[in-house]
Amino acid sequence: MAALRTSARTLLRAAPSLATAAASGSSRIAAPTAVRCLSTSSARASDALFVHRDTDYNNPDIPFEFNAENLKMAKEIIGYYPPQYKKAAVIPLLDLGQRQNSGWTSISVMNYVAKLLEMPPMRVYEVATFYTMFNREPVGKHFLQLCTTTPCMLGGCGSTKILHAIQDHLKIKPGQTTDDKKFTLVEVECLGACANAPMVQINDDYYEDLTPETMVNILDKLAKGEKVKPGPQSARHSSEAAAGRTALTSEPYGPGQHCVPEFA
Ligand code: FES
Repeated sequence: MAALRTSARTLLRAAPSLATAAASGSSRIAAPTAVRCLSTSSARASDALFVHRDTDYNNPDIPFEFNAENLKMAKEIIGYYPPQYKKAAVIPLLDLGQRQNSGWTSISVMNYVAKLLEMPPMRVYEVATFYTMFNREPVGKHFLQLCTTTPCMLGGCGSTKILHAIQDHLKIKPGQTTDDKKFTLVEVECLGACANAPMVQINDDYYEDLTPETMVNILDKLAKGEKVKPGPQSARHSSEAAAGRTALTSEPYGPGQHCVPEFA
């Protein structure tokens, strides 16, 4: 199956060359030059997404319950809903559980949430396996979600260069965690910050306008336990035009002032 998929991919890459050769009547076919398909990203096979197998670090016998602070917050969240619909709190409660459980949602977290909301555990598993924001395997302290969707990838944005910079620096590939458990890397689809492409989300923060150098700098600082300012890593303040303003360039006139032009 894998071999079949590889040959299909090779054929797709070679298609433009084949078409050119056919049009010119040439029997020689140029070697395909594409190095990375637009569709290439880390594989999330269904066995990883939906299937749970008990392991020594993830099985229902491992105890889990909210700490006092999270239990208080959970009760507050549950209180937003009528008592008969408290299962509507399943997503925020799973999120709380994931945060308390070092960034991943174990089977014990899911079972605990099911018990708290008086839901069949299967209903909670369905939610946790549907939303990819719930990590069902342990992740590193810094969870890197690199956007490699088209606007981040094309032109001068170059998310592929950022991907290579991370891979070369941390010696991991998408889906992997560093040996010291400090970093996990995954590729994700658009995170809605295309105006500041390329970008990466690390835990809850966005780091934007990246270059390979600024990306490595961020990783180094995080590895040393230093704080890094989130947002654009360029001279930009937010998502204003990179080349400067082209409109609204004068001071705005205040209330009571007229915008009527003066006549000599
Ligand atoms: S394409 Fe990367 S944030 Fe939208």
